[in-house]
Amino acid sequence: MSLSEKYKHAAMSLQMVQPFESSRHVGWKSPSNIALVKYWGKREPQIPQNPSMSFTLSNSFTETSIEYSFYDKSGPKIHFTFEGKNESAFKKRIERFLESIIEYIPFVKQLELKIESVNSFPHSSGIASSASGMSAMALCLVSIENQLFGTLRNKSEFFEKASFLARLGSGSAARSVYGGFVVWGKHERLADTSDEVAVKVHVPGKDMWELGDAILITSSEKKKVSSSAGHDLMDHHPYAEARYEQAREHVPYLLEAMEANRDELFIRVVENEALSLHALMVNSNPGFSLMNNNTWSIVEKVRDFRKDTGIFMAFTLDAGPNVHLIYRKKDKVQIKKFIEEKIIQFCENGYWIDDEMGGGPVELN
Ligand code: PMV
Repeated sequence: MSLSEKYKHAAMSLQMVQPFESSRHVGWKSPSNIALVKYWGKREPQIPQNPSMSFTLSNSFTETSIEYSFYDKSGPKIHFTFEGKNESAFKKRIERFLESIIEYIPFVKQLELKIESVNSFPHSSGIASSASGMSAMALCLVSIENQLFGTLRNKSEFFEKASFLARLGSGSAARSVYGGFVVWGKHERLADTSDEVAVKVHVPGKDMWELGDAILITSSEKKKVSSSAGHDLMDHHPYAEARYEQAREHVPYLLEAMEANRDELFIRVVENEALSLHALMVNSNPGFSLMNNNTWSIVEKVRDFRKDTGIFMAFTLDAGPNVHLIYRKKDKVQIKKFIEEKIIQFCENGYWIDDEMGGGPVELN
């Protein structure tokens, strides 16, 4: 049975909320993640065309809290504030998200939800907040289910359903419900992997792979192409099949690189993934170039510095011009010096975010 069937079936006993008097509260702090092997291309319902692998961040997160009460009309009735303000575009997105998952959590129809959300990173930093935002929202909804029905007391079941719901809000959000390294998307060589939920992956020699992520902001402009429009570009892309195959190969390569401490392989895969994503965008129809001159300058500086010093570091990119510089936490002092001396001039207003791998979402009281 697929997870979607399992949750639809389970939803039959989640239809009726027993009326309750005073409002109740749930809250989660959920981090963003950075993909090392990228998800780019999907089919309905939000099923990835290839497996992806990321690590979850620590300092870039969304905090969402929901005060909910019994609603005796046909709901859900939603109030939404983002950083203290009514944001109608975000509210619409949340409403669409709830509509798309209502069959798995039918009880929300009998609830009034007061949702408050804040990000730790500036809204205009060019950092996508859908992974942290949608995972925080999904975790809150699963907590509500637990408070009302006590159905997900087991931790692994709780996070599995959260990942499933988060995926339907934003694919990459499925990965944010776990800390450390995470894979989303079925891979025949990796046990337990699924297109419907993400899974945590165990990496031997963990200390070696405690990674930092310096997020170098070259432009804080809003994304030129939304990720859904970007995924759609893959539908008729002449290189689509070759790309999906490449990503399928890259996931085990990356795990092998970490297992055997093959730094060169890790760097090759991670940087190739970033540039493949952007190359696919450039030769899509219509095409987009999302990297700017400063992005390219940083790429060159990273390559030069690595060659000169031998320090482990790799660049990666999301669907935008900002660079994520991945390094080992133990090298942080040298990396910071490198950024201050050679990189900061390419960052907009000298701005960069000092982030690192984290342990995953935290429940707020
Ligand atoms: O989750 P979405 O639909 O915003 O897509 C994310 C796509 C990338 O960030 C470019 C890659 C990834 O795997 O996170």
